[in-house]
Amino acid sequence: MEIKSAEFIMSNSNVEKCPKSLLPEYAFIGRSNVGKSSLINMLANRKSLAKTSGKPGKTQLINHFLINKNWHLVDLPGYGYARVSKSAKRTFQKFITEYFSKRKQLVCGFVLVDIRHEPQTIDMEFMEWLGENMIPFCIIFTKADKLKPKDIEDHIKAYESIMLETWEEMPQYFITSSSNGLGKEDLLSYINDLNQSINQP
Ligand code: GTP
Ligand code: MG
Repeated sequence: MEIKSAEFIMSNSNVEKCPKSLLPEYAFIGRSNVGKSSLINMLANRKSLAKTSGKPGKTQLINHFLINKNWHLVDLPGYGYARVSKSAKRTFQKFITEYFSKRKQLVCGFVLVDIRHEPQTIDMEFMEWLGENMIPFCIIFTKADKLKPKDIEDHIKAYESIMLETWEEMPQYFITSSSNGLGKEDLLSYINDLNQSINQP
């Protein structure tokens, strides 16, 4: 699938105020600085559709982008930023969990993780929370340009074996780089297939 048009629609912190249209949407979530906004720009072939920064905490709101006039990409704030801990269990910013639990148009959440890092508790907890709430998601490994191909393989294997301690199977995943475009075709064709399946009930 080729992205022919991409436009910013709105930003807000309240899921009730998100676009009313029932177009299918896909949301990018993960720790601050993992590359959510950069990935949206890479997919859309646009340098600064979504605002990016070297400093964590750039994206603070729920941002809707209309793609090819018939589906939405959603850029979210990092959940590792300004989070609050409640006893032992971490809580995520309220509007993030509200977005995922209330947004009926959401077809799939993409949980971004930096391919260089070992599994992080906050990512594992967020994926568990998605699973408990039966919200479909995939994992997107980002910044693959920072590793050699052999190291990519090793990191994925290590990640998978830790995931399999709590999950029956490894969720669908993609290996990407916003710097060199790795994973772009696969991700867009995955989204395209889902869009088609929604249009043909
Ligand atoms: P918040 O909005 O703060 O939650 O961050 P974010 O997840 O949207 O990250 P953002 O896209 O702003 O990128 C953070 C930093 O990582 C920026 O300096 C990007 O240039 C860099 N970055 C993002 N993706 C990649 C990538 O694939 N490769 C490399 N080398 N750098 C990347
Ligand atoms: Mg961002």
